Amino acid sequence: MVKCALISGRGMGMMHGGNFHNHPDAEVVAVCDMDPGLLEKAKEHFGVPGYSSIEDLLANCDAELVLLIVNETRRIPPLRELLEAGRNVFTEKPLCGLQGQATVREADLAIAAPAIATWRESDQKFGIDFNYRFMEHFRKLHDDVVEGRLGEIKMVHARAHFNCWSHIIDQILWNMGTPIWVSVVGDPNEGGGWKRLIHIGWENGVVGTLTGTNLWGYDDHPLRVKILGDKSYAEARGLDGSYLLRKAGNSEIEEKWENEPGKPEMPESFKRMADGVVKAMQNDQPFPADGEAAWNELLFEAAVHRSALQNGARVYLSDVDRAAFV
Ligand SMILES: NC(=O)c1ccc[n+]([C@@H]2O[C@H](COP(=O)([O-])OP(=O)(O)OC[C@H]3O[C@@H](n4cnc5c(N)ncnc54)[C@H](O)[C@@H]3O)[C@@H](O)[C@H]2O)c1
Repeated sequence: MVKCALISGRGMGMMHGGNFHNHPDAEVVAVCDMDPGLLEKAKEHFGVPGYSSIEDLLANCDAELVLLIVNETRRIPPLRELLEAGRNVFTEKPLCGLQGQATVREADLAIAAPAIATWRESDQKFGIDFNYRFMEHFRKLHDDVVEGRLGEIKMVHARAHFNCWSHIIDQILWNMGTPIWVSVVGDPNEGGGWKRLIHIGWENGVVGTLTGTNLWGYDDHPLRVKILGDKSYAEARGLDGSYLLRKAGNSEIEEKWENEPGKPEMPESFKRMADGVVKAMQNDQPFPADGEAAWNELLFEAAVHRSALQNGARVYLSDVDRAAFV
């Protein structure tokens, strides 16, 4: 049994806590929330002891895995505390964003860097909830890319509503690896979820685009990722889930998949992620999306921010990475 402690009595926290608690090989053994009302409710729900601070939790509970489901605006200090105390940690995305998930800045990367350094020096497990990796249509796209069914990859074409922003970046990086540069049109001083047009380049010559805004709402899928190879191209769309694989050039349909009506992929993906984390604990393997995935997504966002502030200059991710640890 993997013993878990849950930090957060709010909606997302309770959802994750429930998924781990309902897993046959895991259980929530303690809860923690600084809000007394939410703490009481969480204690009652799971029938376990509760603590109002992480310090108390660490002193009184030997759970090997901590589910740290707090907001990106206040994730890094508790993450560091838990890692320094030797606990394995599963958390939400993005790794850090003091102004929210749609406005990640280069400064957020520097804030997160010491936590990543602590984790890299440890032998603990740390991972982030890039649960879209566990949606059937995104899994199909990934398998077709890495197993060569698209042929040699040439281009990536993606767009997202900001509610899906960290996930679409993770999808691009998960499929294609970390790019070497970005060049961005957009103005971070616009405020809020500033609209952005991102050009991306990989070392092997693959190029891509990613565009972000909330203006198109959720009308025609909040995110789409299309990857084009010299044999075939494929697109995974949305949170319910659909996938279309076509032959390059003549567009002949090779595979079409849609979620079963009334069975969207999104809720299932959280349960599958919990299962992946529990299995990684049992088999002593990295979490399905580990600290490097968390870091690389944030690194990409930091490079995007720097490029936009420099009027679309080509920014190399390796330069941004180096600057974060100075
Ligand atoms: N993966 C997905 O698809 C998906 C979907 C929706 C939301 N999310 C993410 O989930 C996260 C949800 O976070 P939230 O907004 O519920 O978090 P929050 O910061 O509001 O915190 C949740 C609870 O934890 C408690 N808390 C926070 N810090 C604490 C501390 N140091 N010690 C004790 N208690 C503490 C708070 O009192 C609160 O009740 C966000 O980062 C969001 O981006 C992910």
